[in-house]
Amino acid sequence: MRLLLITAISSSLLLLVLLPCAYAAAGLLSTGIHKHPDLDTWFLVTERSTYVVGATDDGYLLNLHWGDRLNELDNDLNATRIFTTTTFNPPITYAQEELPAFGGLRYRELALKVELPNGVRELNLLYSGRSNMTGDSLLDLELEAGNYTGLTVTLHYELDVDNDIIRRSYTIRNGLKKGNVNLSKALSAAWHPPSAMGLDEERELLTLSGDWAHEAITQRTRLRPGVSHTVQSPRGFPSHQSYPYFALRQVPTGETSPGTSNEVYFGALAWSGSWEITVDTTIYGYSRITGGIHHQDFGWTLEPGESFTTPVFAAGYTNEGLPGARKRMPRHVRKYQLKNVKTQQKKEDMYNPVLYNSWEALTFNITYDKQIALADKAAAMGIELFAVDDGWFGARDNDSAGLGDWFVNKRKFPHGMKPLADHVHNLGMKFGLWFEPESFNPNSDLYRKHPDWAFYYDGIPRYEARNQLLMNLGLPEVREYLYNRISTLVKEIGIDFIKWDMNRPFAEVTMHNYKDRNPREAWVLAVEGFYSIIDKLKQEFPDLMIETCASGGGRMDIGILQKVDQAWTSDNTRPDARLFIQYGASMFLPPRIMYGWVTDSPYDSQIEIPLSFRFHVSFMGGLGVGSNLNNMEESDIKEAAGWIELYKQIRHVIQNGDLDWLVQPSCVGDLVAVSQTTSQDRSEAVVLAYRFNSVFSDQLNPLRLRYLDPKHTYRVRVYQDDPSTPSDEYEMSGALLLSRGIVLPGLNNIMFRSAVVWVQQK
Ligand SMILES: *[C@@H]1O[C@H](CO)[C@@H](O)[C@H](O)[C@H]1NC(C)=O
Ligand SMILES: *[C@@H]1O[C@H](CO)[C@@H](O)[C@H](O)[C@H]1NC(C)=O
Ligand SMILES: *[C@@H]1O[C@H](CO)[C@@H](O)[C@H](O)[C@H]1NC(C)=O
Ligand SMILES: *[C@@H]1O[C@H](CO)[C@@H](O)[C@H](O)[C@H]1NC(C)=O
Ligand SMILES: *[C@@H]1O[C@H](CO)[C@@H](O)[C@H](O)[C@H]1NC(C)=O
Ligand SMILES: *[C@@H]1O[C@H](CO)[C@@H](O)[C@H](O)[C@H]1NC(C)=O
Repeated sequence: MRLLLITAISSSLLLLVLLPCAYAAAGLLSTGIHKHPDLDTWFLVTERSTYVVGATDDGYLLNLHWGDRLNELDNDLNATRIFTTTTFNPPITYAQEELPAFGGLRYRELALKVELPNGVRELNLLYSGRSNMTGDSLLDLELEAGNYTGLTVTLHYELDVDNDIIRRSYTIRNGLKKGNVNLSKALSAAWHPPSAMGLDEERELLTLSGDWAHEAITQRTRLRPGVSHTVQSPRGFPSHQSYPYFALRQVPTGETSPGTSNEVYFGALAWSGSWEITVDTTIYGYSRITGGIHHQDFGWTLEPGESFTTPVFAAGYTNEGLPGARKRMPRHVRKYQLKNVKTQQKKEDMYNPVLYNSWEALTFNITYDKQIALADKAAAMGIELFAVDDGWFGARDNDSAGLGDWFVNKRKFPHGMKPLADHVHNLGMKFGLWFEPESFNPNSDLYRKHPDWAFYYDGIPRYEARNQLLMNLGLPEVREYLYNRISTLVKEIGIDFIKWDMNRPFAEVTMHNYKDRNPREAWVLAVEGFYSIIDKLKQEFPDLMIETCASGGGRMDIGILQKVDQAWTSDNTRPDARLFIQYGASMFLPPRIMYGWVTDSPYDSQIEIPLSFRFHVSFMGGLGVGSNLNNMEESDIKEAAGWIELYKQIRHVIQNGDLDWLVQPSCVGDLVAVSQTTSQDRSEAVVLAYRFNSVFSDQLNPLRLRYLDPKHTYRVRVYQDDPSTPSDEYEMSGALLLSRGIVLPGLNNIMFRSAVVWVQQK
């Protein structure tokens, strides 16, 4: 037994044959995609990483390198034959296949499973010899299924050169002459970082899991030989329970090895439906990361000539530690988001507006008069976008009725919504409205008219959640109805901003009215329907801003983030809780998209958190206010206006900069958290420091800043309780800011103290 195992290892090691002579490259490899002149091997080169994929002599497509940037087209990266073997560890199981599909002697986590017309459920995908390089950032490699001529899988690679990220997906096409091909699993990619074991290091998996009002809490798990870890949402949407993201970082077990200790592999799925990511580690410490649409109840039928394309799984490599990963993924999201927005919004001085939302102040009890009163107060405070939340439409006085009836409630708004929108516009603010388009209450006119638009099975009770049913956005008539209703309101009222909410998970997912479709396709069609309405709205109204929301941060995957302008990070607005949520979300959310509201304190009868602390927490991303302005003291209104004014002075750093953490929020010991957002040119930074409790009477140690230029002098301004006057102001060299740091005596020995430190190059 033991002997057989060793034989298997040595033959799997033969996958990489080390040849003595290196290919004599003329100069260093530039960024972009390069094909080796003699081999079916492609080098995907970004600013600081290289990803190499190559076909063996017998056609298996393997990952040959993923890590630091290579300088030449190494001959050593020569994929060779995979030897078949009769041991219990077939090499193909351990091969770093780019797209491992169910079939043959493959026994690890797999990405694709099909059923062929003749009942065969096995695939052996081999490189067909057809590739396509477009520009210097797109590569397609075609695989075909041995005996089934015409069944092809085209792997897509797209490089984000600046951020060291590769976007992967594939298209599977049924080119058979006759017979349907069924998919029962179609994950987007498999990734293979090098082994971390056998050195004096191990790997730690960082994932973001939580719950409603408790999103994106950082979880750290040490990888163990022979153990798999899965994070997932089978709920039909990304969910609060887990975020479709992973990061793998090195942790030294002996002395720190300077070479690899800062290596991080990280990735996220661009998919707003059910998803799964698995990190499967062999006994030898090799991990395979697979991810994509959740396979539970997934199904798709391809008739001859049809194809299916998976969502993108984007992943990257950095040797700058978690801060490097935290910089790259948000920048990547912002870059792809900019591809979808109008040219004038791309200007660097276009910032996301300071928002007011009346939900926490009024819940459903909104009326024209109350909204006018709030709008006047909001405008005077410096608010730029005034949004009306749930309760403005249909018979919507609570969450049991009216959802789906997107007609303005005449009792609350006797002359419709336009007079309020006009008033808001005249005050110089933009006007926003809340929608939850995908659901309806059974107690609604829309449901009474179209009960067949819901997901349901005949003869089975319709499972309500929050008194509502989900509509099947896979149905073209539902998409069309919703698009027409929303776009009509946008035009009639003059809506500048939509808060698009979604407040229940999927159930009874099937395709009514379209009995010829595979009912399992509804999981995917519903997500595509959601995307199609957003895309059409953005196309027809390029200035319309949209916020993604699902009872807080339940739908913030990088797919929807590329289509919208803002995200509602969590329903939990308690600032100390928010620091934990924002810490996790900062791994992927660009700061300008991460919205936080300042709301009324106390959150329960036990604590009173100062207004300054509440503002400083919301300062970390897009700023919003949700307090009941009617009940606020004059002095608080004045202070709030001051903080909003200060935010506007520093938001060019906050919204466009890179958010990093000098001290991560922690539940143990001293309760401190410190972030630093640095402008991309490093000439400015905003440090936000919070001490929510100092249980011992210790002074706060100096905070050593990062990323500044040691040769420059910086002007430092500290704001604590008074937004109009710095509590401290001085000049200091970059070298000293980096090595000794700043001292914040105002944060000693007290609960809920915080400071804004604005650092500017002189
Ligand atoms: C790649 O490896 C194979 C098998 O060892 C060898 O035959 C071939 O010459 C190598 N190709 C190059 C370009 O080095
Ligand atoms: C494919 O799926 C459809 C719909 O579920 C089913 O009717 C058909 O029998 C399946 N075909 C194969 C080859 O499995
Ligand atoms: C190569 O890719 C480009 C862009 O994706 C496409 O327009 C072109 O048709 C492709 N060519 C081939 C031969 O597949
Ligand atoms: C599949 O291909 C192999 C090798 O090309 C061949 O030996 C075999 O007969 C084929 N099987 C079928 C069912 O076509
Ligand atoms: C919810 O609103 C409906 C319609 O206004 C009303 O009939 C019902 O009593 C309300 N339910 C609760 C629990 O307030
Ligand atoms: C708001 O409406 C809810 C029911 O929807 C009611 O219970 C509550 O008393 C109302 N609050 C105010 C301030 O009117």
